[in-house]
Amino acid sequence: MERINLALVGCGGMGTRHLYGLRTLARTPFNRIDLKALCDINPENARMAAAEAGKLLGVEPAIFTDLEAMAAAMPELNAVDVVTDPAVHHEVSCKALDLGLHVMVEKPMAITVRACLMMIQAARRNGRVLSVAENYRRDPSARLAHHMVTSGAIGTPYMGLFHDVSEGDRIFITPWRHLKNRGGPLVDMGVHFADLIRYQLGEIHEVYGDVRLVEPVRRKADTMWRPYEYYQKQYEDMAPVVTADAEDSSVAVFRMVGGATVSWVVGLGGHGGCSTQLILGTEGCIEGYGTRGGRVRMRRGRGDFQEQEEMLAQAEGFEQDAVSAHFFPTGLTAADREVDWKLLAMEYCEFGEAIAEGREVEVDGKEGMKDVAAVYAVFESAMTGGAVRMAEVESGEIDAYQAEIDAALGIL
Ligand SMILES: NC(=O)c1ccc[n+]([C@@H]2O[C@H](COP(=O)([O-])OP(=O)(O)OC[C@H]3O[C@@H](n4cnc5c(N)ncnc54)[C@H](O)[C@@H]3O)[C@@H](O)[C@H]2O)c1
Repeated sequence: MERINLALVGCGGMGTRHLYGLRTLARTPFNRIDLKALCDINPENARMAAAEAGKLLGVEPAIFTDLEAMAAAMPELNAVDVVTDPAVHHEVSCKALDLGLHVMVEKPMAITVRACLMMIQAARRNGRVLSVAENYRRDPSARLAHHMVTSGAIGTPYMGLFHDVSEGDRIFITPWRHLKNRGGPLVDMGVHFADLIRYQLGEIHEVYGDVRLVEPVRRKADTMWRPYEYYQKQYEDMAPVVTADAEDSSVAVFRMVGGATVSWVVGLGGHGGCSTQLILGTEGCIEGYGTRGGRVRMRRGRGDFQEQEEMLAQAEGFEQDAVSAHFFPTGLTAADREVDWKLLAMEYCEFGEAIAEGREVEVDGKEGMKDVAAVYAVFESAMTGGAVRMAEVESGEIDAYQAEIDAALGIL
């Protein structure tokens, strides 16, 4: 099997988790990826990740603080995995693509639609793979819901609800997640949700929405529950208070190309929360769009809800692909403590196959851009006060909200 020499660029919280994904993949017969190098502008983060990689993979990769210097020093590299914060995804990815490297980039694909379009062009002109690491839809719960919707198990979907609001004023993982020019909380979480909505219900035609900044002052959480050493250190170093300028609350209606409408209520702040995910069809409904380590359940007609186990037992024609079946033989992930790493391993596996065998990746640049555009459509609608067409947001014709970010970051 052709080997892929990979460098991880961005060795923070998610970068550390990617190392666990690589370790998970390395234990399978599907692995063709060798981690050769780490790059982070913060040398301390690169050093920590190298030590972690040494423990997980048995070899400490070389460390760098500059992408071009890394590529010059290691001509054997084929690909990079970009896990920096989103404000520089386009800059790092375009540079890597122009150096002839294949790119897998974390979600959100980029900080604005224009930045996504730059990346798509860079991949095209260099003939390189560009894959967006969107993990939620890869969970078997999302795959099963997708099978049920597309096979007509609930008839024709006519409405959806995607309501996910967590109240409070706590800093959401990192301070940068509250800054508009670095990818606020709605973009950070919203791209996952937009991706699930598009995955289950098809393309979005038009969006009408509103956004608010409800918590302009964010406070450090009382504890950091993530066990990784990196997250603990990040938490210790974190300022007690962050002034937020990125909106944290949103409401929208998505009119889908297929005729359904979706109600979107997504936020992280304020004094009340909600969590309802529903796909309503003419002959039944599905609770949940699927998510990492999540569950879905389904009702046919006016019968009782079937839990995921029963849905799986009765799902005619539903089959997991070989890699997914290897990691999730029961088709259930809710109690799987390694689900995060396994989904990452699946992303790496697909990326490696795309490079070595020329297969298409599921979430390519265009798909990743559509997720970013769907979230920004809510912001753009709030700016214009009317509905916006997705085609105009995706082409960059409607960009009043994002123009400020593009100008600040020099995205031309
Ligand atoms: N798919 C998921 O479930 C999931 C979960 C968490 C984070 N993420 C995504 O992963 C990305 C990283 O998030 P995080 O929480 O790890 O952030 P983080 O702040 O913990 O880490 C970012 C790292 O990138 C480094 N960096 C910044 N600019 C760089 C550059 N130009 N070159 C090299 N390194 C650079 C920083 O020094 C830092 O070490 C984001 O896009 C985020 O949305 C995805």
